[in-house]
Amino acid sequence: FHVPKAVNEPVKAYRPGSPEKEAVLAAYNAMWNAQVDVPLYIGSEEIRTGNTKNMSAPHDHKHVVGTYHLAEKKHVDMAIENALAAKDAWADLAWEQRAAIFLKAAELIAGPYRARINAATMIAQSKTVFQAEIDAACELIDFLRFNVEFMTQIYNDQPKSNSDMWNRLEYRPLEGFVYAITPFNFTAIAANLPASAAMMGNVVIWKPSDSQVFSAKVIIDVFKEAGVPDGVINVVFGDAAMISNTIFDHADFAGIHFTGSTHVFKDIFKTIGNNIDKYKTYPRIVGETGGKDFIVAHPSADVKQVVTGIARGAFEFQGQKCSAASRGYIPQSLWPAVKEQLIADVKSMKMGSPADFSNFVTAVIHEGSFDKLASYIDQAKKDKDAEIIIGGNYDKSVGYFIEPTVIVTTNPHYATMETELFGPVMTIYVYDDNKWSETLKLVDETSPYALTGAVFSQDRYALAEATEVLKNAAGNFYINDKPTGAVVGMQPFGGARASGTNDKAGSALNLLRWVSPRTIKETF
Ligand code: SER
Repeated sequence: FHVPKAVNEPVKAYRPGSPEKEAVLAAYNAMWNAQVDVPLYIGSEEIRTGNTKNMSAPHDHKHVVGTYHLAEKKHVDMAIENALAAKDAWADLAWEQRAAIFLKAAELIAGPYRARINAATMIAQSKTVFQAEIDAACELIDFLRFNVEFMTQIYNDQPKSNSDMWNRLEYRPLEGFVYAITPFNFTAIAANLPASAAMMGNVVIWKPSDSQVFSAKVIIDVFKEAGVPDGVINVVFGDAAMISNTIFDHADFAGIHFTGSTHVFKDIFKTIGNNIDKYKTYPRIVGETGGKDFIVAHPSADVKQVVTGIARGAFEFQGQKCSAASRGYIPQSLWPAVKEQLIADVKSMKMGSPADFSNFVTAVIHEGSFDKLASYIDQAKKDKDAEIIIGGNYDKSVGYFIEPTVIVTTNPHYATMETELFGPVMTIYVYDDNKWSETLKLVDETSPYALTGAVFSQDRYALAEATEVLKNAAGNFYINDKPTGAVVGMQPFGGARASGTNDKAGSALNLLRWVSPRTIKETF
């Protein structure tokens, strides 16, 4: 079987006067005042429960852009019933038909929905247009296209047979339904978690983050127009604990596809473990969680590369990527040059609304995040073993704005070297040039998470040593580049230790978790 060869969607530049810039600004302005009302999507129904919450813009938090409806337990039960009712027909549909639906979804995003999905991501997740484009447009398109290609490879992977014996693998979907819990920080991940399970023939209950409902609505519109049948992806919003407990109580719960915080994922693991006797099958547990991602520079490193790695790795999208650089290890000999250039780079970062394309930094997602970041910054202002060399101001009067902030510490165990903050705060420890090997060990020992990390050096032996010593400290390891921005089909993404189950998003390894193969031997 052949499907169209997957190609990465080219990233558009949004230059002044370009058609894509005009289109996304028109969509932004239209959606800013549209007052969208987002229902639950259960089976063929759109359910307005009347119990609603507002969606607002983090960079202008008094501005309400719409409302969404919250589920009660009975709606979650209804979503499960509808998913199970849709299950057989969906699983029996030839996989080429399923593939075609998701390829069509990719083309809808590449074309008619591109401006809308980017604008929704800019408004309610406060991404700059460039961050929205690489996420909500390109990465999402890439997930859909490449996963269809991986799906084909999986179905074509068959065991050996003889002339008198035919062995085959039937890649059945899981026996039950899949639950997808998705985060605010990547529109692409929000769409991919339900879509990748559905692609493999599963039915899904999807609970998006409260902070991502606006772009989730566009994803739902795309899936509907592409032809995802009613009941295959059911969408509920609301109280995460109630929704999850209702789902984890059900005998047909067969798998979870999760991206979010480490502590929530650990709780999910425990709940599933406690409920294990209720289930027909061992549920698949696939999760990507937090990170405390590092940048280590060797004395041979190129200063400009290191500074760009920190500036982009730590501050793009306000550091709200699980892959974001948040701790750095810089040798004493390079520190004066790194410090000077980093301060200059960070000073040049304009902060404000994503509607102004010259802004590099916008707001953090909500007040809870803002307050947490502000308290760590305040503490650093007081602590003797920490110094803020740039940034450190914040203001939530209009939007949740936190300046990109660099802390330098003399303590490699300083709080912000070890705690995941999920915001634009980078902490740097300056090490003695003679202690390169000890520093690598220190990085590994202070990595309870293991998502991403980057090493910078022009010395092949130093790179080899870092790659070896840090082999368990990051699932995505970057050499002479920032630790963010994995591209589907190029850098399969995921981490181990407390960062997740490392079932690489955007690869066949992930899709294999959504099938339960049956081996069939037939003799003639
Ligand atoms: N895939 C994203 C990155 O690499 C994080 O989820 O930055």
